[in-house]
Amino acid sequence: MIRRIHHAGIVVERLATAYEFYRNVLRLPLLREADIADQGVRAALLSAGDSEIELLEPTRPGTGVARFLEKRGEGLHHVCFDTSDVDGELDDLAARGIELIDREPRPGLAGRIAFLHPKACDGVLVELATPPSTDDGDEQSPVRLKRLVIGAHNPATTSARFQELFGFPEVAINSGPRSMLAVGRGTLLIVPADEVGGSQGMVALSLVADDFFDLMERFDRAQVKAMRGSGEVTVEPESSHGVHLHISRYE
Ligand code: CO
Repeated sequence: MIRRIHHAGIVVERLATAYEFYRNVLRLPLLREADIADQGVRAALLSAGDSEIELLEPTRPGTGVARFLEKRGEGLHHVCFDTSDVDGELDDLAARGIELIDREPRPGLAGRIAFLHPKACDGVLVELATPPSTDDGDEQSPVRLKRLVIGAHNPATTSARFQELFGFPEVAINSGPRSMLAVGRGTLLIVPADEVGGSQGMVALSLVADDFFDLMERFDRAQVKAMRGSGEVTVEPESSHGVHLHISRYE
């Protein structure tokens, strides 16, 4: 049973530089930072409401994360779903012939984790995690992750795939050939790739800021490049380490 979006994983060149935006400007509290030797990364988890943001800095060449950075630059890398039983979830997926990267869970920053093959989810790299039971996750964050936007050639097919794999219920929306799925209190919004510059896979994050006007002042001071509306702002990827971020004042 998937309980929530645990985190969105973002590959960055250097954690210290990414902290200037994610910790100092957005004010996401740092929960943990550690070297994950087998993945060749130094990783950090920042609290973002019900979910978290994971920043990943490659520490040696030749790893998946290092190759991603070389090929595509900084940006969204994977999404992690929180499950109470990662072992059972993997057994079930394996029994159904779903392509997995990890057949057995291993220790990660989010707890016991495992990756599915991106082919299994129409190009989206999905991680499953069972966090340690001591995880409080209660750190107050002024900015909360609400939604992950996914580009797909056929949104209905990709949506059906996520529903079939993880049992996410569809949320009714009336905006053309899009599909929205509920994951705990967060959502996945699957849109036609044409609407997002032809991009397939993870394309953007939507967040809600409780301190929107203070945040805009911090954007000014830090000279964050962004397109501003009255109650929402879209951060230019060059200011947010390759990630399209939509931040709004309201839920
Ligand atoms: Co992760």
